[in-house]
Amino acid sequence: MLAAQTAGAPPHIRLQGVRKVMKTERGAEIVALSGVDLDIAEGEFIAVIGPSGCGKTTLLNQIAGLAEPSQGRILLHGKEVHGPGRDRGVVFQGDAIFYWRTVRRNVEYGLEIQGMPKAERRDHAERYIRLVGLADFAELYPKELSGGMRKRCQIATVLANNPDVLLMDEPFGALDYPTKCQLQEEVLRIHTREPRATVFVTHDIEEALFLADRIVVMERGRIRRIVDVPFGRPRDSALRIEPAFSDLKAELWALLEGGHAPAARGHDG
Ligand SMILES: Nc1ncnc2c1ncn2[C@@H]1O[C@H](COP(=O)(O)OP(=O)(O)OP(=O)(O)O)[C@@H](O)[C@H]1O
Ligand SMILES: [Mg+2]
Repeated sequence: MLAAQTAGAPPHIRLQGVRKVMKTERGAEIVALSGVDLDIAEGEFIAVIGPSGCGKTTLLNQIAGLAEPSQGRILLHGKEVHGPGRDRGVVFQGDAIFYWRTVRRNVEYGLEIQGMPKAERRDHAERYIRLVGLADFAELYPKELSGGMRKRCQIATVLANNPDVLLMDEPFGALDYPTKCQLQEEVLRIHTREPRATVFVTHDIEEALFLADRIVVMERGRIRRIVDVPFGRPRDSALRIEPAFSDLKAELWALLEGGHAPAARGHDG
């Protein structure tokens, strides 16, 4: 469910004519993004799918402020973004956690940087460690965790900073199917409890459908289509076997395979 948008207020996130040209080592130019326009509302969950190299990570990095657009603008609450900020939390694809810190001390890291007093920091970190189901593992080091647990640790670390916007780049790409499903359900639970604008990049159509309010389908640096996901919230695993879910999955498959999806739900970007 989306938080109400105040009449006349700018959208939470607005991408306006975003173009990004990359230069290779040999001086060639690659147009990674072109003509990207997208508005994301408060609390809205957007999934971004599309073939490898179509610009998904580039898009996420632009919103994160890790790179500037070559043309166009990215606005947060109407203000142009320049550079990264604590208002945007990024969960990277790899294991972006400190191997010399325990789970607890990883989750506390951003709070330490902010200068939060120790006792408060403990309580705050504890809350997020519980939220991602790592309460029994808080004193372990990353090498003592499974891949799924390390991902949970990363998510808790990002959420503990209480970002306005959550940006996730194929966070569950490397995980086995049951772990992936479990973490998707946790992401839904957290989103219900603490709704925040989320951009979630994935290769996985089922994951996109299960999590998102809208799915942005990209192709060669452009938004090919934006598909509205009609399923209400809260959602649970039963949704995965509903006929409407399978139908939409098939439509998205057809779209990604290059065929013409019969979906009337989406609109071309
Ligand atoms: N640092 C870079 N320098 C030059 N070109 C780059 C750079 N990073 C990405 N690109 C190019 O930009 C395009 C988009 O890359 P991007 O990483 O956004 O794709 P992606 O959709 O995230 O792919 P994947 O699904 O494989 O992660 C690709 O053609 C890639 O070669
Ligand atoms: Mg990528």
